[in-house]
Amino acid sequence: MPDARRPSRGTTEPSHALTRVVAFMNQKGGVGKTTTVVNLAAALAELGRKVLVVDLDPQAHASLHLGVDAESVGVSVYDLLLDPPGPDGRGGTDPLDALRCVRPNLAVLPAVTDLAAAESELASAPDRQQRLARVLEPLKKVYEFIFMDCPPSLGLLTLNGLAAAREVIVPMKAEFLALQGVGKLFQTVHLMGQGVNPHLRVTGVVMCMHDESTRHAKEVVADLERYFAEARDQKLPWSSARIYRPAIRRNVKLAESPSFGQTVFEYAADCPGAEDYRALALAMAKEWDELLARLSRPPAAEKPGPEVVVKTGARKPSPRRPAAPPAAPGPAPAAPQVVVRDDAPPTRAAP
Ligand SMILES: Nc1ncnc2c1ncn2[C@@H]1O[C@H](COP(=O)(O)OP(=O)(O)OP(=O)(O)O)[C@@H](O)[C@H]1O
Ligand SMILES: [Mg+2]
Repeated sequence: MPDARRPSRGTTEPSHALTRVVAFMNQKGGVGKTTTVVNLAAALAELGRKVLVVDLDPQAHASLHLGVDAESVGVSVYDLLLDPPGPDGRGGTDPLDALRCVRPNLAVLPAVTDLAAAESELASAPDRQQRLARVLEPLKKVYEFIFMDCPPSLGLLTLNGLAAAREVIVPMKAEFLALQGVGKLFQTVHLMGQGVNPHLRVTGVVMCMHDESTRHAKEVVADLERYFAEARDQKLPWSSARIYRPAIRRNVKLAESPSFGQTVFEYAADCPGAEDYRALALAMAKEWDELLARLSRPPAAEKPGPEVVVKTGARKPSPRRPAAPPAAPGPAPAAPQVVVRDDAPPTRAAP
């Protein structure tokens, strides 16, 4: 089992412009959220991207899957939510005290079962939904991808994930009833968009434990594609959502690896589950790089040509607007400088 606190291998300078903050969410249980967060995060880390997994589930499955067992956890997500920094980003429990660097380029903010109590302990706090967003703000300087593993409910922990995220990705199984749950989930995202987090978008669905050969699975995928297509021209948080490819095939190696505290790449590097998550990570990294390239391109200077007036009585066609990029983050507010050393307990940078 990998040691969660290996010695330092040197400081890595932050090399990213923006951070992709994603809540992996589905209120239905056992659909593949944790498996997707952990293995996708590990695959991206292997590609050299700096990735943080935030375990928002009191079951602590993501932490366990990455080899962090509850008994070794001192400060956890629970402590960070109970004592977050203030609105100015100062004070509170230091998130670096909770951070565990578990693999090269990969860290986790671990959960413990106490996290379940946070729902009731924070019930009357006016900022109860925005606490995680403040906790994560300084960590965006370090991590290019922040993946939150949400619990199977729409309670306060999930709402904190949605408030902190720019994107929602929905792992799901191709089952008819699952589609109805997804409708409810999207409505919740819509409500968040009208209040706490107007930038939140659903970027897509990952089909998990998928068997493309069954008629039922094909029908569910077709229904979902229709649902997304109908939303294309509407102002909805899921109007640019899609089904990610490849789907993740059912593969027993994915179910076995957590009990060893290993990712699927460590447990069975060439199994179909490893192949699928590797391919999905490549697709997501490419999608992200393309978005960043589009955002960094200066807008083309418009050269107005000579004006020609043609009196046809017809309206001038309006220029086609480019599709809105998925959840392009705005400028991050000032936050303390943080340096994290690969595989080592994190440290603050000297001012
Ligand atoms: N592609 C797959 N093939 C086979 N087993 C899988 C696959 N994906 C996930 N599993 C197994 O299915 C079970 C549920 O997966 P997982 O824990 O990832 O779901 P979850 O949505 O996070 O569950 P929860 O809602 O309880 O948090 C686990 O035992 C996991 O190992
Ligand atoms: Mg889970």
